[in-house]
Amino acid sequence: MKVEKLIERAKIVRENAYVPYSRFKVGAALETESGKIYTGVNVENSSFGLSMCAERIAIFKAVSEGETKFKRLVIVADTKDVVSPCGACRQVMSEFGNFEVVLSNIEGKVKVTNVEELLPKAFDFRRDPT
Ligand code: THU
Repeated sequence: MKVEKLIERAKIVRENAYVPYSRFKVGAALETESGKIYTGVNVENSSFGLSMCAERIAIFKAVSEGETKFKRLVIVADTKDVVSPCGACRQVMSEFGNFEVVLSNIEGKVKVTNVEELLPKAFDFRRDPT
């Protein structure tokens, strides 16, 4: 899928964000190597620490459907500059390799990066234990 189309999917799904506390809506769209699209939004909770980021929901939806090979992940929010994913999401992304990550805001500013650039030297249990 063209990256513009994937950004559009993230923007549309962003409207479903459940954000009664922060009011900060985030949308994500993940394209797998097999060509499927999994979207995600942030889902908050009265117990704030239980809230979940949009990009992690998209990744977990894909994994729960048996998809673990990702081509690119788009993240969109209403930020001045492009949105910057949190550290926890960066670590979750790194579990699935070095795919492309497209950061965007709703005004159309776009930055193309990748997982390794977002989280250099990520912890990898498969590599780090002796
Ligand atoms: N959030 C995301 O969903 N993704 C990001 O990349 C940044 C932060 C959410 C978590 C919370 O619901 C709200 O944005 C404010 O932190």
